[in-house]
Amino acid sequence: MARYLGKETTRVDGIAKVTGKAKYAAEFQIPHLTYGFIVLSTIAKGRITQIDTSAAEASAGVIKVFTHLNAGKLGKPRAADASPTWAWPLQSDQIFFNGQPIALVVAETYEQARHAARLVQVSYQAQPHETNVVAVLGRAKPAPQEAPPRGNPQAAMQAASVKVQSEYRIPIEHHNPMEPHAAIAFWEGDQLTIFDKTQNVYGVQQHLSQGLGVPTGNIRVVSPFVGGAFGASLKPNYYPSLTAMAARELKRPVKVVFTRAQMFTGHGYRPETIQKVALGAAPDGKLQAIIHEAFHNTSSFESFSDNTTGFLKQVYACPNLHAPLKIAATDLATPTWMRAPGAVSGMFALESAMDELAYALKIDPLELRLINYAEVDPESGKPFSSKALRECYRLGAEKFGWSKRNPEPRSMRDGNLLVGWGMASSVWGAMQMPASARVTYRADGTASVASATSDIGPGTYTVMTMIAAEFLGLALEKVKFELGDTDQPRAPAQGGSWTTSSVGSAVRGAALTITEKLLSLANQDAGSPLRGTSIDEVEMFENRLRLKSDAARSVDIAAIMQRAGTQELTEVYDSKPSPEREKYASLAHGAQFVEVKVDPELGTVRVSRVIEITACGKILNPLASHSQEIGGVVWGIGMALEEATEIDHRYGRIMNASLQHYHVPVNADIHAIETIFVEEDDTIVNPLGVKGMGELGMVGIPAAIANAVYHATGKRIRDLPITPDKLV
Ligand code: MOS
Repeated sequence: MARYLGKETTRVDGIAKVTGKAKYAAEFQIPHLTYGFIVLSTIAKGRITQIDTSAAEASAGVIKVFTHLNAGKLGKPRAADASPTWAWPLQSDQIFFNGQPIALVVAETYEQARHAARLVQVSYQAQPHETNVVAVLGRAKPAPQEAPPRGNPQAAMQAASVKVQSEYRIPIEHHNPMEPHAAIAFWEGDQLTIFDKTQNVYGVQQHLSQGLGVPTGNIRVVSPFVGGAFGASLKPNYYPSLTAMAARELKRPVKVVFTRAQMFTGHGYRPETIQKVALGAAPDGKLQAIIHEAFHNTSSFESFSDNTTGFLKQVYACPNLHAPLKIAATDLATPTWMRAPGAVSGMFALESAMDELAYALKIDPLELRLINYAEVDPESGKPFSSKALRECYRLGAEKFGWSKRNPEPRSMRDGNLLVGWGMASSVWGAMQMPASARVTYRADGTASVASATSDIGPGTYTVMTMIAAEFLGLALEKVKFELGDTDQPRAPAQGGSWTTSSVGSAVRGAALTITEKLLSLANQDAGSPLRGTSIDEVEMFENRLRLKSDAARSVDIAAIMQRAGTQELTEVYDSKPSPEREKYASLAHGAQFVEVKVDPELGTVRVSRVIEITACGKILNPLASHSQEIGGVVWGIGMALEEATEIDHRYGRIMNASLQHYHVPVNADIHAIETIFVEEDDTIVNPLGVKGMGELGMVGIPAAIANAVYHATGKRIRDLPITPDKLV
């Protein structure tokens, strides 16, 4: 019977956060700090012909204005004939996107730097640019992870008796975390310390080592708290190297904080995605062929792809499938991963198409999913390590009242509002990455635990404390978990919903290794009541090592340690995925049921009710986990109805780079949301039996809403967001 795992636990860092004690990157107090403000380009492509910084430099408080003419070198020297790139800021006169950094003004105060930034005069020689993905589709290239087709999709599609074929569009979207990206850098001799908002301290360390030509051992990256990131801090962004370079040149600490507008070209975005989906089925609903072609934009200098069609290949038992992804260069900043990257985009298209197919076949949309349920992974043929999606469908339908649905569009009303019910499936990975954790257990019954992971909001501080407390047999308050520092054992980026699986397994491993050491120390005593017992039979509990089956047979841990002449035991444990995993496919799944109410005159859509059932292994902290899934649903509502980054293609410039004009859901947009877990007992996926769940929560929602809107109105909206103009 677990003491903590599986029980609702409030956040161990909650009080620090609400009282302001939790320090975010820009909040560290450093003496003699200077303030940098970034100047961005105002053209999308071309060259800087002249940059006049004299007025800015003469402005009060200004220490230096860095441009490509005087900035310290960043990155490896490049051959003179190398193709143009924008890997590092302020290294050439070339412009690759509108909103590219072209200068950094450093002053004694933030206000002085910001004011002087307006005085920098720039002349350009502009070149023709293209920022519209539709215009560059012909130049699209296969994404690196492109896999061969399954079966013979073309022939199967031709032979299929019922077919649907449609095109779906998703605009560029931005993460918009609350906390702006920021860094403070200072040098002590050749040692750099940088406070950075990041999901990956080791990734930033590696990046800065390359950029600054300094060994990784000389760089410490610190990031204890992150105010939301959602993927926007997975890759090192350009500002940490810029900040560190300026601090090195000036021999003073420098702080750089993005404005909200600067975030729109400063950390990547969900790419603009066009998907052409064709489904072919037999009259009984069995899928014969899926041809799902996806395109999205990248930049002219980096080939990013978000694996749009990766997970969707594993959802339905269809023998013939081709789901290629192609990427096309645009003169924009490089896109990046944004919550549920690829999966939420791909599943919007596939699950909308499945709804269209259900109507073409006159089969209930839920029934169609059950007819095509994948009992084994259709891509690899491997069994699933666990898959409770069938139970998610059943429970969701029952809770929602799906059986009472009249499939006829426009058949349900609430007063003058049109009511629609839609559903969709969701999928995400159950990944595990190598990770390390250090646990120190002290004779006084306290423990310190550390791993250089991140907590961008899901509750990593809390769940790691719970795992350590559980396996060390200590009360939660006796355990202190720390993260976000390259002085700690290596952990992967907090991304992909793999943190609990990866870092949690390392914390568990370290705690169990300490248990094992204590047992062997205890058994050096001939009179030990635990003699002859194996590690699997004992556990630590309240500073005693005891037999699980007979708690009376126990020894005092402090006494064992004293005999061994030590006050503490420290263990660093490296965990990695087990070879057993290779024999299985491991995924997290869910089913989404949505009710919308549409005003037929105004075209406004209200998502009045959502029931989301997910199966993502064991739930360690139901409080934080429900919060993750509810947040996923809210974001799914935003993606379906509100979010879009608008670009004026004449200038290649983002028009709505603010929270005033980039719409995200507010309280008034959100109504009843119920999230339910169908727990899976998965002994293969990792020792804790947990799967990714933070990203999963949003995956099926946009499609379920679009399907509900069709049911309400009879209008199939295939380009997000579903704004009133598309419905009236
Ligand atoms: Mo997530 S897009 O892996 O931060």
